[in-house]
Order: sequence, then structure tokens, then C-alpha cells
Amino acid sequence: MRPQRRLPRWSELRPLVRTRPVQLDRVERRLARAATIGDLRQLARRRTPRSVFDYVDGAAEAELSLRRAREAFAGVEFRPRVLRDVTQVDPSTRVAETPSTLPLVLAPTGFTRMMHHEGERAVARAAARAGVPYALSTMGTVSLEDVAVTAPDGHQWFQLYLWKDRKASLDLIQRAADSGYGTLVLTVDTPVAGRRLRDVRNGMTIPPSLSARTLADMSVHPAWWFNLLTTEPLEFASLRKSGGTVADLVDRMFDPGALLDDLAWLRDSWPGQIVVKGVQHPDDARALAALGVDGLVVSSHGGRQLDRAATPLQVLPGIVAATEGRSEVLLDTGITDGADVVAAVANGASACMVGRAYLYGLMAGGERGVDRALTILGDQITRTMRLLGVTRLSDLTPDHALIPPAH
Ligand SMILES: Cc1cc2nc3c(=O)[nH]c(=O)nc-3n(C[C@H](O)[C@H](O)[C@H](O)COP(=O)(O)O)c2cc1C
Repeated sequence: MRPQRRLPRWSELRPLVRTRPVQLDRVERRLARAATIGDLRQLARRRTPRSVFDYVDGAAEAELSLRRAREAFAGVEFRPRVLRDVTQVDPSTRVAETPSTLPLVLAPTGFTRMMHHEGERAVARAAARAGVPYALSTMGTVSLEDVAVTAPDGHQWFQLYLWKDRKASLDLIQRAADSGYGTLVLTVDTPVAGRRLRDVRNGMTIPPSLSARTLADMSVHPAWWFNLLTTEPLEFASLRKSGGTVADLVDRMFDPGALLDDLAWLRDSWPGQIVVKGVQHPDDARALAALGVDGLVVSSHGGRQLDRAATPLQVLPGIVAATEGRSEVLLDTGITDGADVVAAVANGASACMVGRAYLYGLMAGGERGVDRALTILGDQITRTMRLLGVTRLSDLTPDHALIPPAH
């Protein structure tokens, strides 16, 4: 039997009509529609020149480290517990003595003003607003004093690469200590530059050089170019020698001869917490914990250094066990969802660092884009906790998030 048709009455239609406040601001409109970090990535891709997007999005060689890190997160199986009161959840914690509203730290990323002219200042302000720490990179494009002043309420960390010139490294961390940075992140996975093939193929230089190709790009991304050319010149704030490719610069300045012993003088020179970033082997974790470092970051540098490196989530339990509680363990690489963070915390991480996730937001909409990325990740973290039946991070156990076996 065919249903009888009739004309609907207005009184029936009215409740179905959805009126939303008209959002006149184009950036706000764009960002409000982004529901995931993946959505922010798509926006970022449209808003920036290809070589800039690829510099952020890409990884080393065949990009296997990054792909495997993401696949490990995708392969996590959650085991929720039910009938728990999850009316109130509290995702706040302390990371290396720093209070944080979420188990998140914004990872150090170089050249941030290239992604968007608001650069490190925007990231620092958004992090302070959200109440999460931000680690400023040695390769920053805004001076560390400037970043400290721009977000006085923020919890700022400073990331150091050991330079061949130890005196210059010392001067830099002295400046960071004087400006109120509480935690030093020493990155140890960059004795030489990883080979990022997208950058090689795009002929990426810092600052971007004006070639025929970049000139053609100006017509496609006029706002990005206008902002680049009409704001302070894009250069490193902490390095004297700028120019050329990233790989050239790393190989010229960084010390491939750095040793475990270097941590001893860093310990003597730095008054605050020390976190060592780029650990992948339990033996290294054990040695660093024995030296008394406050934290380690299990990381393959976003897959940007050694390709086919250890998959952070898979080596995490072994590294946590090796430290025997003497050092906190953080994790990064490949995080695109708050559920990834919850899985890592359930398996012993005190927090996760994210790099690309907030940079996509920055490229998509400047400071407000970083706000959006943090809101997305924060919502995902609390929702996942609720759905798992836990109200505090300390209630998460490996039983809540099973890690897939290594391939
Ligand atoms: C564009 C970009 C620049 C980076 N620059 C630095 C840096 O200057 N120092 C550092 O220790 N790590 C740097 N990293 C690595 C991040 O700190 C972090 O380990 C990585 O981004 C985590 O992976 P994810 O991007 O998938 O979250 C950079 C990462 C990206 C994407």
C-alpha cells in the first residue's frame, strides 16, 4: 500500500527549521566547521604554499616512522568499563612539575612564523589560555624573551639542541632561565638532519626563496605571501647563521658528538626541570633515569629524523618499565586525536606532546586556529575518558587501551 500524501503544516515544520547565528567572520566560520584535526589539516593545506604545508606535514625518507606511529594509534582497542559515574571528569595533571589542564604539551617546532605570521606568539598565547605548557624551539622565529612576555600567564618550556659551540648553548639556556622558563627540553635525536624528501623536491629554504615557482604561488596564496612580506623578516631568533636549507643549517650548527656526559654540565647549569626528547630504547631510558633527568619523551621526532624508527606507542611500556619510576615518560609522534593521548596515558605516559596538530590549526586560522585545535583535542580527551568509564587520568590502566602488536 502506498502511503497517503499530504501537505505539511507550518506548525510541524517550524521546530525542524534550524537557525544559527550568522557568523560573519570568515576565519571563525571556517574554524567552527572543523570537527577534527584532519579537518584543520585540510584547511591548512588550502591556506599555505605547498612547500610550507609539506614542510609541516612531511616526514623523513619514505615516511614510514610516521605512518607506523599513526597506525599503532589506529590499532588501539579500548576496553571501557560501564556503570561508573562519569558526570564529572578531570583531565588535569602535572607534567614535569608543570600544572596542566590536559595531559598535553605543545611540542617545539621550528620556523613557526613561516606557517603563519602570528607564529610563536600566537601558539604561546593559545597554550596559556588553554592552560597547557608550550615548549619553544631553539629554531624559533621569535626571541625567547618576547615569547615569555607575550604570554606571562603561560607555562613555558624551552627546547635546546646542543650546538658545537657549547658556550653559545649555555648563553641561550641562561637567557631562558632568566626569562622564567621552568623546563628545559633537550632534543637528542638530531645528530644530523633527517632527509625529508618533500623538502628536497620542493627546494624548500628558510626563508622561502623567491623563485619562478614561488612567484606563481603568490597568485594562489596572496594572503600568506602578503603577511610574510609585510611583517618582520623571517629569521631565527636564537641562531646567528640563517639561510639555506634546514638540513644545511642543522649539519652546520648541531653537534653530532654530544654524549651522555653533556647532561651532567646541563644539570649543573640549568636550575629547573630537564626533559630529554627523542628516546626510543629502554637502555637509553635507564641510563637517563639513572642520571636523574626529570622526564623523557619517547619520540621519533614526528617521523622526521630516522625512518623505520621505533613506534613510540609500542616501545612505551618497555621504556616506562626501564625508568622504574625515576623519570616521567612523555610520548609524541603521530597524534591526531585526543583518544591517542588517552591510549598513551593508559599505557604509562604522563602526557603527550603534539606538533602538527596545533600547527595545522595555526596555518588554518592563526591564534584562533590553535585555540580550535586545543578545543578539539581537549573535547576528545574528556569524551574518551567518559566513554571508558574513568574520571581521572590516574584511573587509566593498560587494561583500558590495548596496544596492537608490533608489525
Ligand atoms: C614543522 C615541525 C618542526 C619541528 N621542529 C622541531 C624543533 O625545532 N625541535 C624539536 O625538538 N622538535 C621539532 N619538531 C618535532 C616536534 O617537537 C615533535 O616531536 C613532533 O612534531 C611530534 O609529532 P607530531 O607532529 O606528529 O605530533 C618539529 C616538528 C614539526 C612538524
